[in-house]
Amino acid sequence: MKIELSRKLKSFKPFLFEELYRKERAERAKGRDIISLAVGDPDLPTDRRIVASAAGELRDGRNHRYPNTKGNETLRREISAWHKRRHGLSFHPSDEVSILIGSKEGIAHLPFVVMNPGDCCLIPDPTYPTYRTGVVLSGGRIHDVPLEEKNDFLPDLGKIPQKVLARTKLFFLNYPNNPTGAGAGLDFYRDLVKWARKHNVIIAQDAAYCEMYFGRPAPSILQVPGARDVAVEFYSASKTYCMAGWRVGWVVGNSKLVCALNQLKENIDSGPFNAIQNAVAYGLKHHEAIVPPIRARFKARADAFCAALDASGWKFRHPGGSCFVWARPPVKASSLDAVMFMLDKAAILTAPGSGFGLCGEGYVRFSLTEPDARLKEAARRLRALDWGLLE
Ligand SMILES: Cc1ncc(COP(=O)(O)O)c(C=O)c1O
Repeated sequence: MKIELSRKLKSFKPFLFEELYRKERAERAKGRDIISLAVGDPDLPTDRRIVASAAGELRDGRNHRYPNTKGNETLRREISAWHKRRHGLSFHPSDEVSILIGSKEGIAHLPFVVMNPGDCCLIPDPTYPTYRTGVVLSGGRIHDVPLEEKNDFLPDLGKIPQKVLARTKLFFLNYPNNPTGAGAGLDFYRDLVKWARKHNVIIAQDAAYCEMYFGRPAPSILQVPGARDVAVEFYSASKTYCMAGWRVGWVVGNSKLVCALNQLKENIDSGPFNAIQNAVAYGLKHHEAIVPPIRARFKARADAFCAALDASGWKFRHPGGSCFVWARPPVKASSLDAVMFMLDKAAILTAPGSGFGLCGEGYVRFSLTEPDARLKEAARRLRALDWGLLE
């Protein structure tokens, strides 16, 4: 029998980061000492106190039964308490908080609960690719919203055409931003909420990197009065606690959206393993002891790496947060040419900016998620690189 895959599936390109992993494996198989700065996968192990808590939870037979899709009460309450401490916000654990199998899962599912075929979703360009997934699967249309360096990588809301706005249901945003490293302040969120209320647009703000800030703490859009009427915010344990492999995230905010997402998920999954949810709850409870050293480590890396890029003629803005540096090479080159040149001549694998959208062309994204010594070696190789060979 000839198996014919769906048109929808065929419309998906391979996920950018999977492609980069494949490239890295292929290069290593040739015996090359590749330093991969392509994917944002934290190298630091999960704090041993969280691991110890998980080990205890693992032995508890009560955790071996099915979890509850929206997440267990311990974690939802701990999330609620954390937002109170961190943002001064109270979220009702039963209908304003829902646990996700990594924030990626919730992000991919959200469009299904609000979009009908033909509805439009605004997606930043450059973007984290998963924002597109649910929109494509739900038959929605995508309108790309440029994030330009001259606007500090914030969207210019006034430039979104009126006829697009008329059919727009949803806008995905992400600050601190992947891939640009830019932050957003409360003033921007105030304007955004006002604009969203005026145009009836749901805001999905992805705060996966909210604890990797290098200056003032990254605010939550939900701190803006009235934001809860139009917005949800996605959070992730992956970067905050270096728990990417454990697969836990959460969504907070507008209860209609949180409950609708949960209703959809009840028909798809049963939530993350309870032992892991309880370990994340431990992390949240001890956040103030666990997270500052992680943040300091990433800031030190960003400072050192940016100094090396500066010395090598790269053009960039110092990131306000995240684990990324978004930069243009010393000579004019396409993203792909620059990435292939660095791979070929310096054995450094990076992510081409063009893979994140048209506006990413000409940029390269460095992910500072390799051990300090490897980052130092990457900086040394970059300093030694003669870009004249590419021209
Ligand atoms: C902007 C952004 N949002 C969400 C995610 C997904 O995170 P999680 O591990 O919680 O699924 C990532 C992962 O790289 C990301 O960069």
